[in-house]
Amino acid sequence: MKKLGVAILGLGVVGSGTYKILTENKEYFKTVEGLDITVESVLEINKSRIEELGIEKEKVAKNIQEVVSNRNVDVVVEVMGGVTFAKEFVLSALNSGKTVVTSNKELVAKHWSEIEKTAKKKNVGFFYEASSVGGVPVIRTLIESMQGNHITSISGIINGTTNYILTKMTDNGESYESALLEAQKLGFAEANPTADVEGFDAMYKISILSSLAFNKKVSIENIYREGITNLKEKDIKYADELGYVIKLLGIGKDKETGVEVRVHPTLVKKDSALAGVKGSFNAVKIVGDSVGEITLTGRGAGSMPTASAVVSDVIFAGKHSEFYYQPFNVEKSKEVKYVSDFTSKYFIRIESELGNKDALKIEKIFDKGVVIEKIIKEENDGKLDVIVLTNVAGEKQTLKTLEKVKALKGLTVENIIRVED
Ligand code: HSE
Repeated sequence: MKKLGVAILGLGVVGSGTYKILTENKEYFKTVEGLDITVESVLEINKSRIEELGIEKEKVAKNIQEVVSNRNVDVVVEVMGGVTFAKEFVLSALNSGKTVVTSNKELVAKHWSEIEKTAKKKNVGFFYEASSVGGVPVIRTLIESMQGNHITSISGIINGTTNYILTKMTDNGESYESALLEAQKLGFAEANPTADVEGFDAMYKISILSSLAFNKKVSIENIYREGITNLKEKDIKYADELGYVIKLLGIGKDKETGVEVRVHPTLVKKDSALAGVKGSFNAVKIVGDSVGEITLTGRGAGSMPTASAVVSDVIFAGKHSEFYYQPFNVEKSKEVKYVSDFTSKYFIRIESELGNKDALKIEKIFDKGVVIEKIIKEENDGKLDVIVLTNVAGEKQTLKTLEKVKALKGLTVENIIRVED
């Protein structure tokens, strides 16, 4: 039976889940996969984590050199997060002839080119299913199951932490702060929650996913990104009155005019499939020209769901001995044409001190620029909330119209949120 030695760099949330699955299912993997997998080495500075998992002392490496020079190690699993050390360690492992499995989306999104070149040069594998949408096998679906398609769009809920926070705020009226704290305790959130709540995590993932879907390297510099930290209770309340809930979406489209990739809070219809995706669950909708629409949904964050994806890569690596994964001609990425003036419906929340007179002025300005589909006017604490839901309009045209609204005295534009029907 083929033996496969694994090293795990980092025994945090994902690393400890990976260790558990690999050790507890050793016999099962022998029977079902024909692989005798052993965790030969771990690299972790927190001793209590090593003790909690009951790992023998001789398996604890002192440094990365010890890991990559270990002849029993075939596959190095990088689940430390961060980029500086992760990049150094991953390159060191590849250069030593080890196949690498990682869950690190930031690393993959930012340093794909260098890592890919090194893996190819050394003819070793590089696998990253866990980097995008945790336990949901979206990368393998794109690469192995949809070759008969030109994929025109990939979009959905791709960050568990923000979906958890937004669900708690919408369904239970919880505050942003308490929902974030819960997400951190449950192990969904990144060590630094800015990556989640400001949309960086989703940006890395949609960069990877749209690159694979469209066969072009979609760089993070060309992705429009906005997080959830500007959302207020009133946005959730008025969205609800209009028949919508708010979700943080990653959206990638391959159009005739170019590639359009963005991450931002989005109003989706209350009765849509995405609205029903709650808590830390993720959902990704892929549209291919042959198959039509496919939606994959499941847990996108957390210890065991992410470890599930890591383990599937370890097993895949055990069965494929050379470099694998669709390569991109990264040099050509400069030629990718991007769309920046995308079209959408818009939800605009304005607070006015002057009452109804202002609302009429606002409507007049919109009349000349962007068509209003619905308008809500509601008095709260002596102020007037004016909520405008527009028809589909260009982003630039909408922002130009709003500049004119902002020029009116005594009102503030509190939020602009895009709407996907
Ligand atoms: N912090 C990430 C999330 C973890 O909440 O989705 C999985 O990538």
